[in-house]
Amino acid sequence: MLVKLSEHELATEQALLGQLTLLGLGHVLELTERGWELKSSDPLEKNVILDLERDYQQWQKSLTSLRSQPLYRALGTKNNQMPVVWDVTCGLAGDSLQLLAFGCEVISWERHPIPALMLLRAYSAWQHEVKASWTIDFQRESAPAQAQVIYFDPMYSEVNKKALPRKEMRIFREVVGQDTDAEAVARELLSYKKRLIIKRPPGAGLLLPNPSFQQEGKAVRLDVYLP
Ligand SMILES: C[S@@+](CC[C@H](N)C(=O)[O-])C[C@H]1O[C@@H](n2cnc3c(N)ncnc32)[C@H](O)[C@@H]1O
Repeated sequence: MLVKLSEHELATEQALLGQLTLLGLGHVLELTERGWELKSSDPLEKNVILDLERDYQQWQKSLTSLRSQPLYRALGTKNNQMPVVWDVTCGLAGDSLQLLAFGCEVISWERHPIPALMLLRAYSAWQHEVKASWTIDFQRESAPAQAQVIYFDPMYSEVNKKALPRKEMRIFREVVGQDTDAEAVARELLSYKKRLIIKRPPGAGLLLPNPSFQQEGKAVRLDVYLP
């Protein structure tokens, strides 16, 4: 059975579907009982589905080891107090869910209609107490004043051949494309004068000069700019 959306969610979905049609991408999503599924251009590949419960459980299971990972260290947690994080680039919510598993309050933005449509139905269907700490804003009218940390993970063009993206990310990239305005957006985010974390592939150039420090993992580099 399809998940029942509120009037507000239905109106948002209609607006996003309009954007999708304008982009000529109406054919890449398919509505099923599991939500909006993303079809690959290769008919042999399975559709990408967004299952927030599955993904959240995975983050929770590996929480102990995650606390030694770059994202946790980049947050600069004090006395176990987790910050309110504005995840500007939610995508398929991997990092938002990881931040929620750490105990952060998260406000996520997404501007592309494909992930936005997938998120809208997946979020609406998900029943979990952690949702009380998670807001997704597709309207994106004003920067959330309560955010203490800004997290920015735009799509990048330079692909590190050693760390080939997982299948979902590859299909996602095929349709969503690159964020060519990433540098300008990063500059705007810096102007809010909060802790800014920018995710980059290892070996990629800086989006903004002079990070205060960097956290590097196997498949990711986080450039941290302190206010
Ligand atoms: C690399 S993906 C993010 C992946 C995400 N961190 C995850 O863990 O699944 C980048 C996403 O950010 C979105 N995006 C890029 N720039 C944005 C902006 N200025 N505002 C809102 N969304 C943005 C893109 O549409 C894309 O879905």
